[in-house]
Amino acid sequence: MDLKLRMRRLRANEKIRSMVRENHLHPEDFIYPLFIAPGEKYRKEVSSMPGVFQLSIDEAVKEAKEVHELGIPAVILFGIPEHKDEFGCEAYQDDGIVQRAIKAIKKEIPELYVITDVCLCEYTSHGHCGVVRNGEVINDETLELLAKTAVSHAKAGADMVAPSDMMDGRVRAIREALDENGFSHIPIMAYSAKYASAFYGPFREAAESAPQFGDRRSYQMDPANGNEALREVWLDIEEGADIVMVKPALSYLDIVWRVKQEFGYPVCVYNVSGEYALVKAAARNGWVEEKRIVLEILTSMKRAGADLIISYHAKDVVKWLKEAK
Ligand code: PBG
Repeated sequence: MDLKLRMRRLRANEKIRSMVRENHLHPEDFIYPLFIAPGEKYRKEVSSMPGVFQLSIDEAVKEAKEVHELGIPAVILFGIPEHKDEFGCEAYQDDGIVQRAIKAIKKEIPELYVITDVCLCEYTSHGHCGVVRNGEVINDETLELLAKTAVSHAKAGADMVAPSDMMDGRVRAIREALDENGFSHIPIMAYSAKYASAFYGPFREAAESAPQFGDRRSYQMDPANGNEALREVWLDIEEGADIVMVKPALSYLDIVWRVKQEFGYPVCVYNVSGEYALVKAAARNGWVEEKRIVLEILTSMKRAGADLIISYHAKDVVKWLKEAK
């Protein structure tokens, strides 16, 4: 008998292709980022991120409603404060921009899962993610401020906190502070393997958080390193992380795969601003088909092992998934 292997049998039509498809995108995979700015009725598009806006709290509530109605389960909040200072004070004030946004969103849409980015870079005058002394980012002094920030977010009603600063020991510091303040039920999603990446360029315009001197290479990871990412993830798990993150996503799918294989923890990827901007720019020029390329990119993240995807494309994707049904 001539049993020739014919791989094309299961590719013959969409019916059978969909039946044997291994990976799928679902609305529940997504977390949508929101940039909260001061003021009222304020909605300003980020020039390098078409379709993404800085939003005043009232506008953010409207946006959050839309996100919820589309079936996206969660948002992640970033704040642009009115005033920046050396120690990023507005990051941990009870009436800070993010704290007020959490309350407003939770009041209107209690079912929406609200995650907060915990970092100082949007709040510091120097734009670094920690306390700066003599041109250096000081690790241990920063931990206290990050912990205060996380607790103030939880107090305002956040469902989960996500530290993105890359200081050593921040997950433990935040876990201890949350527990001591009655928030032992609040999970931590750690930006564990966060690389010093050129892919964050457009975000820094969106969040007005570019470092005013130097760069972030003394705390974010060297893009050349893979084994080190596993150590970072291992440490964060030891310190109490509930979900670990790899960021950026697309250039780091090997890391996503290794992290998932090694630890089996829930893995989140951040499909960052630069990844979004590249696709948007090429699509605007008619050089790529936006919908197909976005779905292909995001599906590759699932295939690599991601459980959750933070993406500026999330609203579009969920609309496309609905159309396809
Ligand atoms: C804050 C932070 C950054 C991003 C998320 N949180 C920027 C940075 O580290 O410079 C990047 C997100 C994106 O590019 O979409 N530390």
